[in-house]
Amino acid sequence: MTAVVISKATQLRGSVRVPGDKSASHRALMLSALADGVSTIAGLSPGLDVRGTSDIIQQLGAKRVDDAGLVSIEGPSAGLVSSASDLDCGNSGTTMRLLTGLLSAVDGKHRLKGDPSLSQRPMDRVAVPLRLMGAEISGVGQRVLAPLTVTGSTLRGINYNIPVPSAQVKSAIILAGLSASDTTVITEAVRTRTTTEDMLRDCGVDVVSNLLGAGREVTITPGRPRSHHWQVPADPSQAAFFCVLGAIHHDGDIRVENVEASDERIGFLKVLERMGASLRIERVGAAVDITARSSQLHATEIHSNEIPSVDEAPILTIAAAAASGTTAFRDMGELRLKESDRFEGCLTLARSLGARAWSEGDDFFVEGLGGASAFTTFSIEAGLDHRIVMSSAVAGVAGNGCTIHGADTVASSYPHFFDDVRRLQ
Ligand code: S3P
Repeated sequence: MTAVVISKATQLRGSVRVPGDKSASHRALMLSALADGVSTIAGLSPGLDVRGTSDIIQQLGAKRVDDAGLVSIEGPSAGLVSSASDLDCGNSGTTMRLLTGLLSAVDGKHRLKGDPSLSQRPMDRVAVPLRLMGAEISGVGQRVLAPLTVTGSTLRGINYNIPVPSAQVKSAIILAGLSASDTTVITEAVRTRTTTEDMLRDCGVDVVSNLLGAGREVTITPGRPRSHHWQVPADPSQAAFFCVLGAIHHDGDIRVENVEASDERIGFLKVLERMGASLRIERVGAAVDITARSSQLHATEIHSNEIPSVDEAPILTIAAAAASGTTAFRDMGELRLKESDRFEGCLTLARSLGARAWSEGDDFFVEGLGGASAFTTFSIEAGLDHRIVMSSAVAGVAGNGCTIHGADTVASSYPHFFDDVRRLQ
């Protein structure tokens, strides 16, 4: 495991192009593999999580060719087949959960395994609805932990209320629903990212979404995706690191280009604006360019519904530690089930910086230090969690340096993260 030493930067200037959206990248590979014929993908994430999905679809019969940054995927006409060897999902919950849905209808036995982090994450949230559809899934214990064995079966449509806000669960059911004998209807109480639904529509599948109170109802008619030319925009959850870095650094001016800007993904921008961050947000087609400049932040109250999937909670913890006043993070229990226990991770991060932080049930609170220059120099263990690495690095660069143990896990989503941070200095 590599330890990376981060020094504080005197000034930050320039533009960053963060990797292609991880969610769209996984789905572009999976939908291309399901289609008959050649699809192309521009802007695919270079992270190891997405590389894992790519390796797996090739094990299942798809072919990949790379040419000057453009990835071509040929889906087998006769459909995907099972692989004699294990399907290694590495650190990636999206790979394991979505493929469990997709493979539930592919003939044969599929064995999915993961790294020590992924092997602790609950797969019952996908196994329960998929079994209702007729899927055969076995895993370890009550929470159906990896390694999983999925045996291809004949599936039926279901009507299902998702009990936790999760785009991965929704997507696993949708992908299984493509091969079911009839229509599947999914209801989510909180609107999570619509990447799967939007991309399926792009490749000709009949998916209907209707708003339902604060949530949504999604109806999937079975069908096979058509081959497509995918353009993957930049990942908003990665852009968030640079937005906070530009805002909390005492001499920061950072532009992040071509960022995916659907409502469910950019809630963190509203939070930062509420905290007083100086952000310029310019629309470029469906995406946005964001410029973040040095700002004096103040505390706010953040509810998980504003940042569904709570991917931005660790970096917003750094923003809260740099703010004046006490920021409340409400209903953040899902953080406990991410690549690491990010609920504890956020508290540890804030305390490492010298801020007071405490929890009450699923809420936690961070009493800010009134500026990143007041951060303590700290040392942290990343615990196989890329977002803990990047959040720590932002705190170190804007504050007074840090040492990150296990920093190489950043490659799961953003292999050139440290190069991009260095280029701004
Ligand atoms: C993702 C959904 C989110 C998020 C993850 C990617 C996806 O998880 O944390 O990084 O691509 O569907 P949830 O399933 O908790 O929403």
